[in-house]
Amino acid sequence: MTEATAPGKIILFGEHAVVYGRPAIAVPVRDVRAKVTIQNLTAPSQAGSLWVESKAIGLSSWLHEIDGGHPLAKIITLTLEAIGLETVPSLRLAINSSIPLASGLGSGAAVSVAVSRALSEHLGRPLALKDLSSLAFEVDRIHHGTPSGIDNTVVVYDRPVYFIPGKEPERLEVGLPFMLIIGDSGQPSATIEAVAQVRDSWISDKPSMEALFDSIGSVTNQAREAIRDGDLPRLGGLMNQNQSLLLDLGVSTPTLELLIEAAGAAGAIGVKVSGAGLGGNIIALVDQDSQRAVKRALIANGASKVLYTEVSTEVSP
Ligand code: MEV
Repeated sequence: MTEATAPGKIILFGEHAVVYGRPAIAVPVRDVRAKVTIQNLTAPSQAGSLWVESKAIGLSSWLHEIDGGHPLAKIITLTLEAIGLETVPSLRLAINSSIPLASGLGSGAAVSVAVSRALSEHLGRPLALKDLSSLAFEVDRIHHGTPSGIDNTVVVYDRPVYFIPGKEPERLEVGLPFMLIIGDSGQPSATIEAVAQVRDSWISDKPSMEALFDSIGSVTNQAREAIRDGDLPRLGGLMNQNQSLLLDLGVSTPTLELLIEAAGAAGAIGVKVSGAGLGGNIIALVDQDSQRAVKRALIANGASKVLYTEVSTEVSP
């Protein structure tokens, strides 16, 4: 049996602008993971058939019965191609993920990476991180046509990254570990709609949108310094600035704003939407003194789920 996992993720700075070539910062959320186990099938009747199971999406099926455009069929096929296997191996592939679906925590990218990693290891041809990342990127294109590549990158490397599309991801130096609270609005994160909406605005007014993306890029670069220096007050202020730019982009919602206000009033050092927006999560920078009050305030104001994550340079074992 082979088992492989991949973490959830959140975007700390630079979402949307990163699709237009600006930098962004993302970190893994290691307490929630996609886990894939693979076993050989030995019955002669199962020769050349791959069984796929995912409770979260209610799927139990042979690979050849799944639509080829389905993200799971796609990542399996791409992986088999990448390792040069021409016949489908007789295997049972089971996916168990604790990453909430459609919440902006990168569940799709994590499942792709865990599937590809488990499959290539089980078949004795483990793929390099770079290759795992490119395959997950291909699948992400199904979710929205123009992904920047940050989701698959942070999930594959499983460490905080400073990312510019088309460049090698850089390690993010974290001078002082810090704590974030992730508050789920309960509204599904609509990545495809949010990315399309921003694209429509960009098409109708390129100069204003480019200026907004530049401002977001500049906030992201300043945040990188604040994280390196362990300067949490500055980091919190930059999160608030990024949030007001996301409001200008039009991807916040009244529900997200309510959570942001509640977290701020309860003592969060900085708060913003994380990921595509139009639903999904907000993230709040907290310290020992404020974390309980912020968690309570988020729940009292309708958050459907609250997670903590610590950000540090450490790479997971
Ligand atoms: C989604 O996690 C982040 C976006 O910037 C889209 C992307 O980078 O592909 C909204």
